[in-house]
Amino acid sequence: MKCPFCGSTENKVVDSRDSETGEAIRRRRECLSCAKRFTTYERIESLPLFVVKKDGRREEFSHRKLLDGLLVAAKKEKIADYTGVISQAGRVPIIVDVDAFALQNAYEMNYSVSEGKVLALVNVGASVTNVNVLSGSTSMFWRDITFGGNQYTDAIQREMSLSFEQAEDLKKGQAVGDRTVQQVIPILNSVSEDFSGELRKTLDFFTATSGADRVDEIVLAGGGSGVLNLDATLRDKFGIPVTIMDPFKKVTVDEKVFNPEQLADLGPSMAIAVGLAMRKLGDA
Ligand SMILES: Nc1ncnc2c1ncn2[C@@H]1O[C@H](COP(=O)(O)OP(=O)(O)OP(=O)(O)O)[C@@H](O)[C@H]1O
Ligand SMILES: [Mg+2]
Repeated sequence: MKCPFCGSTENKVVDSRDSETGEAIRRRRECLSCAKRFTTYERIESLPLFVVKKDGRREEFSHRKLLDGLLVAAKKEKIADYTGVISQAGRVPIIVDVDAFALQNAYEMNYSVSEGKVLALVNVGASVTNVNVLSGSTSMFWRDITFGGNQYTDAIQREMSLSFEQAEDLKKGQAVGDRTVQQVIPILNSVSEDFSGELRKTLDFFTATSGADRVDEIVLAGGGSGVLNLDATLRDKFGIPVTIMDPFKKVTVDEKVFNPEQLADLGPSMAIAVGLAMRKLGDA
């Protein structure tokens, strides 16, 4: 060990003690040439972990691969439930897709992605919201949040003593009897704030566990993205751009068959369907 002051390699240890965390030993040394003192730390060399594969090959341990494996393992039973239903109907299931990835496919076919830009795709369904965070075109994180359009309907039903159907109409901007849309706005806003809190927890978890330190934009889809002011609330709470996905942006539509206005209304809730339709046999 060279003395940092004079470069001599001759020194003696004057004191040895464990560092605060116990993971290293701290040694106080004195140079035998210039008598100045300096400190060194000795710690155990970290050994790379290896995984022995079925065919005997060894591969360096990858955190990412372990996570991918768990993802598949945890879903197997659920997938068996779904494919079972299809088999019983006399059909052969060939591809199984995940909402969050269908959402990504729908986005990527309609919008160009920029490298390094971190996008949170957020598909607000009735009972579940699918989140897929992309960096460029790589999915870095995905998760389902149990929160969706039903929370708004529940709140309206509760506060105004209405039926589910009536509350749904009001939520979608249709007056019911003497109940005006104006009256439900505070309820919608309050649920949107709760939703924003849930989304914040998920995105905080993402930034805490990934290399990314920020999310640049939120892209909403799903029927729930139509809730009045939800995009504005999220824009306000997160301080980043919030847009609503149009999954038909690059789809050529025969206007004689599909009314463009209707399609524009329906658009965001069709994101998953469009993504599923884009899957091809043989896709990884
Ligand atoms: N214009 C609208 N304004 C507000 N909410 C809407 C509108 N249109 C649909 N919704 C709500 O969106 C939700 C349905 O969205 P979507 O069709 O994306 O859900 P889903 O995928 O079927 O639900 P899940 O995945 O949770 O089972 C419902 O709660 C519905 O009330
Ligand atoms: Mg859904």
